[in-house]
Amino acid sequence: MATLPILHHPDPRLRKKTALVGRFDAELQRLIDDMFETMYAAPGVGLAANQVGVQLRLAVMDCSEEHDQPMVMVNPELLDHQERQEMEEGCLSVPDTRDKVTRFNRVRLRALDRNGQPYELEAEGLMAQCIQHEIDHLNGKLYIDYLSSLKRERIRRQLRKAAT
Ligand code: NI
Repeated sequence: MATLPILHHPDPRLRKKTALVGRFDAELQRLIDDMFETMYAAPGVGLAANQVGVQLRLAVMDCSEEHDQPMVMVNPELLDHQERQEMEEGCLSVPDTRDKVTRFNRVRLRALDRNGQPYELEAEGLMAQCIQHEIDHLNGKLYIDYLSSLKRERIRRQLRKAAT
């Protein structure tokens, strides 16, 4: 396993819509393992493939306190969502900043696991938030898109400064 470099906003690769995963081969398994290692090392609770430069509809997550509930979402889609709520959020691709965004507190997810087997689950709270955040990534969207343009500009300036 290896940790992979995480792309930072405003890298254009974070803005592309990702492609459906069709092959569950050894290469995909290695990518998933590397994404988990990268996410845990960061540390973070979720990581989408396009954050490490791979344009596939794939994300890994672990919202547990003990970091012992790894979850893989391949080709995920939301079947249902309810209860809008403001939640504080951050992102490994937008380092050193957090802000409040409105998310659904409950979602119903359909996805494939790492072997291509379909599953459905209902999630609430942090896990529901994380699922929405990762699916946004796969659609080329970042949580800062929900913030005011003033806040987004401030974050862009901070990141540019940090990158030099
Ligand atoms: Ni993120």
